Amino acid sequence: MLHELEVAITAAKEAGEIIKENFGKSQTITFKENKSFLTETDVASEKKINSIIKESFPNHSIIAEESGLSEKNSDYSWFIDPIDGTTNFVKKDPFFAVSIALLKQDKPALGVVYKPILDELYTAEVGQGAKLNNESLKVSETSDLSEFMVGYARPNAKKERFMKIFPKVDLATRTPKILGSMAIHLCYVASGKSDAAVLLSPNSWDVAAGALLVEEAGGAVTDFEGNPWSPDSKDILATNGRIHQELLDILKQE
Ligand code: IPD
Ligand code: CA
Ligand code: CA
Repeated sequence: MLHELEVAITAAKEAGEIIKENFGKSQTITFKENKSFLTETDVASEKKINSIIKESFPNHSIIAEESGLSEKNSDYSWFIDPIDGTTNFVKKDPFFAVSIALLKQDKPALGVVYKPILDELYTAEVGQGAKLNNESLKVSETSDLSEFMVGYARPNAKKERFMKIFPKVDLATRTPKILGSMAIHLCYVASGKSDAAVLLSPNSWDVAAGALLVEEAGGAVTDFEGNPWSPDSKDILATNGRIHQELLDILKQE
């Protein structure tokens, strides 16, 4: 296993301990400009992850949700979401995750998504497959679009756009799912629990780890034009790879 992956797992688990200690307890909550919740636990989790990564890799860049960009002259950049699904965390719902990814020259090298309350550790290394608690993951085999279970996520500011896209995709597919965490939506595609995920306007830290998990589990991840995922992708379609183009064609009707 890559040393970088070991460090990412340590960081995710140590952040997970902080989150577990605070889960279900009353929180100091503030609101960000986009009206999303920010808790003291988001900040504490990110501080822990940043310090572990900086200690091992002082020359790598870090792009972290709450503390922003720490840019170094390096090919390597870490993308960190200390709690993806903070609304669930605040509502005492265990569906949230720590998400940590390392990109080399803007290409995903490794990804870790950790659901601390459920103790589910999703890991992927480029070219080495994806795992859940060390068991290999594989995307679903569903190939009939009308049987597809599809996950959705959008930031609050994109409700109207979502309301245009959702009926078109939902009419062509079987069941919608909204989990409250983009990272977990991608874990669902990687593990075959969902067949696809339509994620509007993600931040790079929401999806950097999950995108690699899906690809390493045999799926496909692109923007709505069909370009491979990159930190600058505007939107994301992740699928088991079997009907990717059919779904892209529907999304292009926007
Ligand atoms: C949020 C989650 C959610 C999505 C929001 C994101 P956060 O991340 O991924 O699923 O709908 O757009 O902001 O704020 O909990 O890290
Ligand atoms: Ca997030
Ligand atoms: Ca977050």
